[in-house]
Amino acid sequence: MTATNDDIEKAAGVLRAGGLVALPTETVYGLGANAEDPAAVRRIFEVKGRPPSHPLIVHIAGGEQLGEWVEDVPATARLLAEAFWPGPLTLVLRRGRRVPLEATGGLETVAVRVPDHPVALALLSAFGGGVTAPSANRFGSVSPTTAHHVRAELGDAVDFVLDGGSCEVGVESTIVDVTGDVASVLRPGGVTAEDLEAVLGYPPAAPSAGPIRVPGQHPSHYAPRARVVLVEPERVVAEAELAQERGHRVGVFLPAAFAGEPVKAHAVVEVPASAAAHARELYGHLRAFDERGCDLIIASLPVAEGLGVAIGNRLRRAAGPRSSDGDLTAPGVRPA
Ligand code: TXA
Ligand code: MG
Repeated sequence: MTATNDDIEKAAGVLRAGGLVALPTETVYGLGANAEDPAAVRRIFEVKGRPPSHPLIVHIAGGEQLGEWVEDVPATARLLAEAFWPGPLTLVLRRGRRVPLEATGGLETVAVRVPDHPVALALLSAFGGGVTAPSANRFGSVSPTTAHHVRAELGDAVDFVLDGGSCEVGVESTIVDVTGDVASVLRPGGVTAEDLEAVLGYPPAAPSAGPIRVPGQHPSHYAPRARVVLVEPERVVAEAELAQERGHRVGVFLPAAFAGEPVKAHAVVEVPASAAAHARELYGHLRAFDERGCDLIIASLPVAEGLGVAIGNRLRRAAGPRSSDGDLTAPGVRPA
């Protein structure tokens, strides 16, 4: 199952020829192209159905290469790269000339990270350059955490899929803007705010509220087909049963505190007590609820600390308003 050396060489060849390769990372699977090939980068946007103004992350093999991709490496960037790479941290810096504007959605900044997955690192070394890779899903849907998810969602649109098993972290990388004087988190992810503070010596700033700058900040990103409704943990069982009685096919994320409690619903998943396990399993369960035909998912938010912040962020966005779903106007709306 797991990619062989032969697969890695083939995948590197596909990248050199301007093709697309799906690759495993520790967070989610990425849809990769040669970062320096504008035509290949444009294909990523076509395959994903993603607006071309939405910037991608450039994946590199090691922190020592960072300077090749950015205009300059401020001390804060160096500090964070040394502490967290390889790992689920993406740094936003001023764009180096090597990076085409296609990859940055026209921005003068670029997002860079070193993924912590042996298959991704082997591919990056064999290829020798940078690989731009968004999550390997169609725009707005749930990120894939297995090679099977990628094939099921993108099929022949990808030239080569490297299988690296299930992703360990399960939610995307933390994106930190280090272009200014203080580091600020643009998207919570696999590296927690507490981890960042321990290295920075101060809590990272939260993104300023304002117009949506990047797709990771769209309210309805990371959404399954089924509608997601967030309720207080102690209301999960009752709300799920009520909706099921009203004819919905309900998928339930049963909070760990209520483990073992019987629930009359279409599909029930017990949320693991550990946030790491919760993050790892989240997207797979959202997909599985869809596959089992659920039309409504009832969940509650975890405690907003550590990885719980990233999990809560993804659940809120999954529950966010959708253009095709006029009656749902705010996260947390109860089933009608
Ligand atoms: O864990 C991850 O980050 C995964 C794996 C494959 O590495 N990738 C991922 O890519 O989540 P994607 O394209 O789904 O999300 C990348 C996000 C964009 O949505 C955007 O929010 C942010 O990175 N981004 C990229 N370039 C940026 C820039 N120059 N300034 C601000 N944000 C940027
Ligand atoms: Mg994505």
